Parts: sequence; C-alpha cells; structure tokens
Amino acid sequence: MHFRLNLALNYLINCEQKILANVQLSNNGSNKRQLGFNYGKLDVYWCGHNYFGVSMSLENNRREYDYGQLTRDSLIDEPFSQFELWMNQAIEAQVQDPTAMSIASVDAQGQPSQRMVLLKHFDTGGFVFYTNLESRKAKEIQGNNKVSLHFPWLQLDRQVIVCGHAVPLPREEVLKYFLSRPVESQLGAWASKQSSLIDSRQTLEDEFNSLKEKYSKGQVPLPDFWGGYRIVPTEIEFWQGGEKRLHDRFRYQLNGTHWEIARLSP
Ligand SMILES: Cc1cc2nc3c(=O)[nH]c(=O)nc-3n(C[C@H](O)[C@H](O)[C@H](O)COP(=O)(O)O)c2cc1C
Repeated sequence: MHFRLNLALNYLINCEQKILANVQLSNNGSNKRQLGFNYGKLDVYWCGHNYFGVSMSLENNRREYDYGQLTRDSLIDEPFSQFELWMNQAIEAQVQDPTAMSIASVDAQGQPSQRMVLLKHFDTGGFVFYTNLESRKAKEIQGNNKVSLHFPWLQLDRQVIVCGHAVPLPREEVLKYFLSRPVESQLGAWASKQSSLIDSRQTLEDEFNSLKEKYSKGQVPLPDFWGGYRIVPTEIEFWQGGEKRLHDRFRYQLNGTHWEIARLSP
C-alpha cells in the first residue's frame, strides 16, 4: 500500500504542479476507507487494500474543427487519387508521421485489436505495409483477412478509413523492400519475436548484438518470418471535420469495378 501510495505521489509530483486540493480520508460506507487526491482533472484514490484507482475528467477537452470543408464537387472520381491528394497535403502540412496508419484485425473470438504500422506504398491495387509474420496481427489476418485501416491526420482535421482484406505480398517484393532498409532495421527485424513475451530489454539488446556480430561481414538475409501485406480496399471514407460538429464524410464503395460515392451523416 505504501509503495503504491508513493508511486501515486511521485506521479503527481513529476507532473510539476501542486496538488491543488485536499487529501481526504473518508469512509465510503463499505467499511473500506478511501484515501483520495483531487488533482486538477485527475483523481487518484485508494480503492481498497493495495491498489489505487485513477479517474480523469476530459469533458472540457474540446476544439472546433475549422480547417476546411469537403464538397462532393471537389472529390476525384476514384479514391486512390483522392488519397494521393490528401497524403501529399498531409506531407506538405508536416503532419507528424503522415504515413502512420492504425490497422485493425480480428481474432477467432471476434475480438478486434489494432496497432500503428507505416504505409510503405500504395497504388490502385491497395495499401502496403511490412511486419513480422508471426505477430499477433499476422496470426489474426491468417485466420480472418478482413481488416480496417485508419489514417489520423488530425492537424488537418481529417481522417481516412479503409475497409478491405489483406493479401500477403510476394516474397520478391518483400525482399526488395527488406534490402532497401537500413542494416539496423534489418537486424531489428531478426532480433524481435514480435508480440511474444520477453523477460527483459537486455535480452533484446543481446540478441541484436549477437546478430550484428554474425552478419558483420555480409548482407543480412531476409528472415522467413518477416513479410508484408497489401490491403485491398472495398470501401474508403474521407472525413473532414466541420464547425459545430457538422463534419463532411464521403464514402467510396466498390461496386464491381466502379467506385460509388455517397455522403454520410456525421
Ligand atoms: C508510428 C508507428 C509505426 C509503426 N510501424 C510498424 C510497422 O510498419 N510494422 C510493424 O510491424 N510494427 C510497427 N509498429 C509497431 C506496431 O504498432 C506494433 O507494436 C507491432 O507491430 C506489434 O503489433 P501486434 O502485436 O499487434 O502484431 C509501429 C508503431 C508505431 C507507433
């Protein structure tokens, strides 16, 4: 309990602000005493024998979305050119990590999970990224190839959402990209058994260093367990935040070989 209390206090002190309000010691009616700090928007309270609960109110954290509007007339007839336009604008606006996208996959129980990956290529065939083929995401994709991508270009009040399915990349394509990576990234791919449990950071560093030694005099080979996917879309939504929460949303939906465009309510 003291350890946890110290942790909580250290957290508050590290925030470099004063503890604004009271330290209360009260009886919450269940014979358990509750020790609470009200710290600005953050409440830290002792919930029982040896753990703390934290609750934070974010209700007033809001802003207007006033960057611009998206109109039907301004949209390009097919989504890849529209995506290219927005990607270029995100790069020009120096959005941080404009190629970072969240990819959501689903496990055998229907439990979705998501994580960021980097978009490395796109064309009219889809969106390409690289990863460890034994990772959680890859295992989930092997069981169910339906995925969704999300690009959060918040600096431009924009998001793009893609729904589609993942197709493994041919090995020649993976090899070509792998060889273009910095050696340290190639070694990093070898060193990490992505998504598996690891006992310490040191284990990872040791593995990396022994691989560095092993491949010090030659090309780092492509690991069998490393590859990539192309996400072939059937639906792409372009979202532009609007004032008064009246956002503009346009969805391109593939119908045969034709993309149909519809406006969605925000
Ligand atoms: C900005 C950013 C970019 C990332 N890019 C990649 C990537 O391209 N490929 C990858 O496998 N993991 C990437 N990661 C790490 C993943 O988010 C994730 O931790 C990892 O792939 C393991 O995910 P999984 O256990 O759900 O399979 C990136 C993380 C961030 C924050």
